[in-house]
Amino acid sequence: MTKRPSTPRTRGPKIVAVPPGPNSKAAAARKTKFISNGVRIGLPIDVTWAEGPLVCDADGNVYVDLGGGIGVQTVGHRPPSVIRAAKDQLDRLTHISFMVASYGPYLDLAERMADICPPGLTKSIFLNSGSEAIENAVKIARAATKQAWLVSFKTAFHGRTLLDISLTGKEKPYREGFGPLVREVLLADYACPYRDPENRPPAEVAKVRVEELEGLINRPEVAGRVAAVLAEPVQGEGGMIVPPKEFFPLLRRLCDEQGILLIDDEVQAGAGRTGRMWAIEHWNTVPDILVSGKAIGGGLPFGGVTGKEAVMDAPGPGSLGGTFGGNPVVCAAALKAVDEIERALPKVKRLEAAIRKRLGEMHEAHDRVGEVRGIGAMWALEFVKDPRTKEPDAELARATQRAGLRNGLLLLTAGFYNNCIRLLPPINIPIPLMEKALDLLADSLDMAVAGKAG
Ligand SMILES: Cc1ncc(COP(=O)(O)O)c(C=O)c1O
Repeated sequence: MTKRPSTPRTRGPKIVAVPPGPNSKAAAARKTKFISNGVRIGLPIDVTWAEGPLVCDADGNVYVDLGGGIGVQTVGHRPPSVIRAAKDQLDRLTHISFMVASYGPYLDLAERMADICPPGLTKSIFLNSGSEAIENAVKIARAATKQAWLVSFKTAFHGRTLLDISLTGKEKPYREGFGPLVREVLLADYACPYRDPENRPPAEVAKVRVEELEGLINRPEVAGRVAAVLAEPVQGEGGMIVPPKEFFPLLRRLCDEQGILLIDDEVQAGAGRTGRMWAIEHWNTVPDILVSGKAIGGGLPFGGVTGKEAVMDAPGPGSLGGTFGGNPVVCAAALKAVDEIERALPKVKRLEAAIRKRLGEMHEAHDRVGEVRGIGAMWALEFVKDPRTKEPDAELARATQRAGLRNGLLLLTAGFYNNCIRLLPPINIPIPLMEKALDLLADSLDMAVAGKAG
């Protein structure tokens, strides 16, 4: 066991032992010995404590967390009201299974989801992860349409189960060695203006991509047999790809014309991350099914599927569920997490402006920042070796991440080519602390570009 340092008394980042320090190194050795090689740890530190936007490692270093445990801590680590609700629930009922008997927190959360989800989406099922929620959304869509085929996007990420990895085009590390995958999947190109081969304006990129998708679903072996199109309203793992505003309305129209369901994967972009409760609200589109996860659980494992009544009621009784899905402690925490997110939403505009300005300056300063993009509190710097060829530079992303750690920042990488640094800060982070973190990021990038990331 590593010795746990006491709660740090600092309101900002503080490096006391160059990371990874000795305790983090000892943890890494245990990881190598006892944990499957298939699990990769992105940052070489062992974490002991976190609160709000700050995280402390086993060597006493304190970092500003710009990753939020992969987009989970949208209102910071351990919001007091969420922790109180979870503790209170622990004292009453930890588990009975909603397949055995009903209980209040599940029903309360379902009612709350009907209230906050786009109009007409009134019925829910709760699960233990985003991956499991995607599985269920697809089962429901197939039951409702009685069709088998699914359309997703090459640069998408929908989770780690065999179905979920069938829904992405990224071979390594997600799919390699795990086949055969689900066959009835078509992978289309997402509307990403930066990587449009013909550099067309965004509205045209949206139109062309939807026309291509229409071509795919009208292929003879597929025509009339598509159950659903699955789409992230902003692609997260793909590198914070914000589609042109025309993309989702065009997808919606195509789905309506062809009797196909639109499944909106809000696991990463939803729950306040973009400044609206759901990212699809930016696109003035109502999906048939909305998949939630991550931040809704307030730090506890959660997945949700919420949809139109006729769709959600298509599967037969007993066909959906799971021992732990919608656990009472998770639902009690989620109810408070949703309140906290709602309360923090008005803060996102100022945060977005601060991030946009500072990342814009980094873009100006460095040729190898090919694009800066984002919305709300969901941003990426995409690195390239040359701005003209746009050849991806994954090493620069990794070097910036390493330099960030030494500077007191937890940074995550992302992107189909692993060449992005993505920012998922808490939406209620104090602006002066975010500005400090952005200064540190700029410094980390300077170090990485100069080959001094360590
Ligand atoms: C858009 C999206 N969908 C689904 C998932 C899978 O969620 P989980 O990791 O909770 O299974 C993720 C996880 O990163 C995600 O970003």
